[in-house]
Amino acid sequence: MSEILAETAPKKRMLSGIKPSGDMTLGSYLGAVKNWAERADQFDCYYFMADLHAITVRQNPADLRRRTLEQLAQYIACGLDPEKNTLFIQSHVHQHAELGWILNCYSMFGELSRMTQFKDKSAKNEDNINGGLFTYPSLMAADILLYQPDLVPVGEDQKQHVELCHTIARRFNGVYGDVFKIPEPFVPKMGARVMSLTNPLAKMSKSENEDTGRVLLMDPPEVIMKQFKRAITDSDTENCVRFDKENKPGVANLMTIYAAVTGKSYADIEMEFSGMGYGAFKPAVGEAVVETLRPIREEATRLMKDKGYLENVYKTGAEKASYVAEKTLRKVYKKLGFVAK
Ligand code: TRP
Repeated sequence: MSEILAETAPKKRMLSGIKPSGDMTLGSYLGAVKNWAERADQFDCYYFMADLHAITVRQNPADLRRRTLEQLAQYIACGLDPEKNTLFIQSHVHQHAELGWILNCYSMFGELSRMTQFKDKSAKNEDNINGGLFTYPSLMAADILLYQPDLVPVGEDQKQHVELCHTIARRFNGVYGDVFKIPEPFVPKMGARVMSLTNPLAKMSKSENEDTGRVLLMDPPEVIMKQFKRAITDSDTENCVRFDKENKPGVANLMTIYAAVTGKSYADIEMEFSGMGYGAFKPAVGEAVVETLRPIREEATRLMKDKGYLENVYKTGAEKASYVAEKTLRKVYKKLGFVAK
């Protein structure tokens, strides 16, 4: 009986996106995609390549196209089974852009101006502070609200945008009744925040070059090893593997990574490396990462050669996604007073 109930009870819906504006890093794998793959049986999951968001910063068209497909191949290689998850490309589901425009009209100038990401990106791209960069969170709110999800797993840096999404949804619901479900932001606990290997106070970023201490999912083993061997550990005199985020952020970051790829606790790790210094710890983390990423890299490479398969995945995904998105959009149009077609 309980089995039957479990099967018929609707699963909670989960949605997230990643911008194909750079190659996928170890940080986005451990912080996001790995956790997503483990949730496919529990949740009804939607994931998309946020190409509409990517163009808020100038992109080379050929690179954007290649990266979008690579990202899809990598998602699948990381364990996101297209049979169990809805995988699609944002621009294939036109409802995102449409609801994005509408929500622009329910997002306040002051709110958008206060977004940390907007402030950071405007400082970095002084010659291209475009409207899209400013209204990025309204489009992200549309991405989310179209699907009425229960959970939106995001990294720390996107929490503010999800909060603004709540504000926008409440404002809209306040005027028109219960149109949008208010989702919970969901930050996975383990490995949620992988920092740069050369600057452990900054998040491991995909857009920057390898000197910034990032490891890419597709990096060959020797590059990964090199990155870990030159990882910054801390300039304390202790030379001891101990979790202390405050005083030893570099070591703490390596421990976070090692814990995420091996499943070991910090206490286990401290024990494993007790009496050994950073010189032994750094390559051990590197090797564990190499072995975790090896099958993913091989599978992604194989999938990239199978364009027909990828096309089939993203087309099926977009069809499923637009079916759900269209329902919400119709409701919104009606509530707003748009004349039905
Ligand atoms: N803004 C997110 C990022 O930069 C990507 C994204 C776009 C997203 N739309 C989303 C994430 C909707 C969650 C839900 O990482």
